[in-house]
Amino acid sequence: MYLTDYEQGLLAGKEGKGVAEAMRIQVAVGEAYDAERMVEISRAHEAFGGYDSCRWFMGMLANRGAHCQVPTTCNPIYDVEYLESVGIPVPEEDKIPVRETIELRKKLGIIQTDNCTPYLQDNIPRYGEVVGFAESSATPYVNSVCGARSNREATESALAASVTGRVPLYGLLLDENRKGDILVKVEATLKDDFDYHLLGYAVGKEVGTGIPVFVGMSSLRPSPAELTSLGAQLATSGAVGMYHIVGITPEAHDLEAAFGGKSPKRKITITNVDLRKTQELLSGQGGKVDFVMFGCPHYNMTQVQDVARLLERKTIKKGVELWVLTSFSTKELARRMGFLDIINKAGGHIIANTCFDMMCWERLYKGKVGITDSPKAYYCDPHRGLNFILRRRSECIEAALKGGC
Ligand code: F3S
Repeated sequence: MYLTDYEQGLLAGKEGKGVAEAMRIQVAVGEAYDAERMVEISRAHEAFGGYDSCRWFMGMLANRGAHCQVPTTCNPIYDVEYLESVGIPVPEEDKIPVRETIELRKKLGIIQTDNCTPYLQDNIPRYGEVVGFAESSATPYVNSVCGARSNREATESALAASVTGRVPLYGLLLDENRKGDILVKVEATLKDDFDYHLLGYAVGKEVGTGIPVFVGMSSLRPSPAELTSLGAQLATSGAVGMYHIVGITPEAHDLEAAFGGKSPKRKITITNVDLRKTQELLSGQGGKVDFVMFGCPHYNMTQVQDVARLLERKTIKKGVELWVLTSFSTKELARRMGFLDIINKAGGHIIANTCFDMMCWERLYKGKVGITDSPKAYYCDPHRGLNFILRRRSECIEAALKGGC
C-alpha cells in the first residue's frame, strides 16, 4: 500500500506512539482490502459504549499521546446524574466506566455529544466529504442521504481514522462501489418511521449485504426520522452501509444513476405482509407491560414532539415507566418547547446521552416486559435479559396508559 512521506512518518512514530499504533491499524485494514493508498477525512464518529474493551482501546491511544485530528463525535453511554436525580440508584461499579470514558474522551479531544444520530444535528457531512463513521444508523445515513463517503467503520477504526486524519481508500469511498445491485420494489404502505424500521429490517435480513435500490417510495418524501430508521435496521439485520431511493437520495436521481447503467443482480418485492411478518418475528406476545422505551436510534425533535402530543393531559398507568432516549440538545429543545413538561406530567422521562443497550436498564428491567417501536431493541433481549413487544409509537403510548396491550 502506498504511503506518503508524511504517512510513513506517522507509522514510524514521528507524531507519537499512539498515532503510530492507529496508523498500524489503518494500514492493516487497507492491506486487507487491497487499498492502494490513504485518503484524508474531514470528520469522524466513534461508537464506544463504555465497556472494558472500549476503555482499553481508547486508553491505549490516549495514554500514548494520540489526539483527534478532525471533529469527532461520540455515542451515548448513560446519564448517571439523571438516573440518580429521579431516585434510581447507580452502583459505584457502574459509574466507573462512565467516568473513565468521559475522561478518555476529553484526553482524546472527542466532542462529547453522546448521541447515536450525530448526522442530524452535531456532525453533518456534506455531499462528497470522506469521513470515518461508526454506528449502525450513521454509515447508511451519511452515505445514502448526505452523499458523503464512509465505510462501515468499527468504532476502533473510526477512532484510529480520527487520530491519523485518514482512512484507507477502498469500499464505499470509491465511485464504482456506490452503485446499487439489488432492486427493492416497495408495495407496502409506509405510514411512519415504524414502517421504515420494519422495511429496513425485512430488506437487511433478506439481502445481508449489497446496496439496495428502493423504488415505489418516491412520492413519499421520507422524513429524517424515517430515513434514520430505514438505515438503522438495514445495518442491524444485514450489513448494509448504503442504499438508494430513486428520486430521493442524491446519487439516485433515476434508476440508471442508481445502478450505474447496470442491471440489478437481484430483485425483491416487499409487501404489507412482509412488514407484518417481520414484526411478528421480533415481537413478544402482547400482555402486561412494565416499561416503555423509545429512542433506538435516539429520537429527534419531531418524534419527541409526537410522544408529547400523545401523552398530553394523560397519565401513565401506575407501575409502568416510560423513557424517551435522545441527545442533550434535543432534550433542552423539548424543555424550551414545553414537551419535557408534558411528558414529565404524564409520568414519563426524557433521558439524554443514554443508550438502550446499557447495564442500567438490565439492572432495572431484567426479566420484565417492555414495549418499543424499534426492532433494534432485540439486541437487548438475549443480551440484557429484557423482553420487548414491538409496536407503533401510538400503540406503545396506549400500552403505557393502560398497562399493557
Ligand atoms: Fe443508539 Fe444504543 Fe440504540 S447507540 S441505536 S440507543 S443500541
